[in-house]
Amino acid sequence: MKVLVLNGPNLNLLGVREPAHYGRETYRSLVGRIRRAARSLGMRAVCYQSNHEGALVDKIQSARLRFDGIIFNPGAYTHTSIALLDALKSVGLPCVEVHISKVEEREDFRKISYIRPACFASVIGHGTDGYLEALSLLKEHLEAVK
Ligand code: DQA
Repeated sequence: MKVLVLNGPNLNLLGVREPAHYGRETYRSLVGRIRRAARSLGMRAVCYQSNHEGALVDKIQSARLRFDGIIFNPGAYTHTSIALLDALKSVGLPCVEVHISKVEEREDFRKISYIRPACFASVIGHGTDGYLEALSLLKEHLEAVK
């Protein structure tokens, strides 16, 4: 099972960025943890981060024949991007939405997720551990639909 773990804008600044919302773990440390957790579940995780919406669309499109599923934290694009929703729908890969912070307890504009209709699950407000939960959810899902 090969999983693409996608992160959107400003998530490269994890560890520095608003620690009250996003914690102290750096993006680099998170990538290491995701890779190791994936391996221990018998999966392979490839991580990619971009601050650019079009680059994320390109990555989703290129995942179509290469990956079994996607774990996606689109950052602020969650609340604005029809293009990312369309990209996910176009490739049809199972996707888990992840948000590190408790988006539903923050500003009203963070309560809207454009990508949610293309995701079979969402992990919200569990800190960076949420990505590891998403890996397990994706594994269960892929085994169930096999
Ligand atoms: C986020 C929440 C978004 O509202 C915000 O713009 C982010 C990160 C999260 O992981 O909690 O960049 O997706």
